Amino acid sequence: MSIALPSKTVFITGCSSGIGRAAAKLFQRNGWKVVATMRSPEQETELKKLDDTLVLRLDVTDQASIDSAVQAALTKFGHIDVLVNNAGYALMGAFENASEEQIQRQFDTNVFGLMRVTRTLLPHFRARKIGLIINVASMAGRLPIPFMSVYNGSKWAVQGFSECLTYELAPFNVQVKIVEPGAVDTAFFGRSGDRDNSSGVSAYNAQMSEQFPVIDKTGPGGSTSEDAAAVIFRAATDGKGTLRYSVGKDAKVLLSARKVLPDRVFLPMIGWSLSPDIFSRFGKLFYKT
Ligand SMILES: NC(=O)c1ccc[n+]([C@@H]2O[C@H](COP(=O)([O-])OP(=O)(O)OC[C@H]3O[C@@H](n4cnc5c(N)ncnc54)[C@H](OP(=O)(O)O)[C@@H]3O)[C@@H](O)[C@H]2O)c1
Repeated sequence: MSIALPSKTVFITGCSSGIGRAAAKLFQRNGWKVVATMRSPEQETELKKLDDTLVLRLDVTDQASIDSAVQAALTKFGHIDVLVNNAGYALMGAFENASEEQIQRQFDTNVFGLMRVTRTLLPHFRARKIGLIINVASMAGRLPIPFMSVYNGSKWAVQGFSECLTYELAPFNVQVKIVEPGAVDTAFFGRSGDRDNSSGVSAYNAQMSEQFPVIDKTGPGGSTSEDAAAVIFRAATDGKGTLRYSVGKDAKVLLSARKVLPDRVFLPMIGWSLSPDIFSRFGKLFYKT
């Protein structure tokens, strides 16, 4: 006689495309109940057709939408086992060119949004004395990508926030894990990116016009959303106390290098490796060209 084990529920933000969407599909295929949240669920068709998948509106900058999504998820599935904080985007360009509003929005989404969703689910996790929070940070949360300083800052914040949370949540059996993708071929490099450098400072134009084409080659040549989703799924199911999970050869190699090289070697090395000439010769070590 086989006894059906109660299936687990995952709650994911940013499921309209890319990594979040691939993760929603992967968990569902593996028998999980999936709460796939997004800003515009009215545009979603595919995920709505999947069994045990609840598609809900959630904008991480809107607490009311978070409250109502969490409530609807609990009403439907009774409990949530894993939260995947995935929603995010990148502000790209010279820091001096970014407007106050762009900087605020970057942190409001990538950092405060992630904190809002986490805080909304914590009472549930504490009450059940079990829970897992998987924060999708980035390799850019531990190493610099030129002309992405505000994005880097936001992901650095996610890393520090996540590490600190592990202490206060451990007594409640709530675990925190960090997924660190390198470049992944998603809308991150296209419609999701904010490249409005219209603040009027032209001093950086020459540098940016060299750097952006290099950055734009990494995405399409990098990992797939499915690769990243597989790592998130592993983090959710391996039962280990591991804190960090990287995605892609670029993240694995560069984050390992970061651990052993002093800043005076590592920082110039990143700038050098992303210069157009060097990238065109050696980029193929990490990226499909
Ligand atoms: N792709 C990479 O190379 C890469 C590398 C490292 C880390 N990451 C991280 O991976 C995560 C997923 O990005 P992706 O690569 O899969 O890019 P993506 O395809 O652009 O997906 C980003 C998702 O975030 C959602 N989102 C943006 N702002 C939101 C908000 N205020 N509230 C709720 N959802 C919001 C987007 O929704 P809409 O459709 O409504 O815009 C979309 O569903 C991000 O946190 C990103 O920083 C990506």
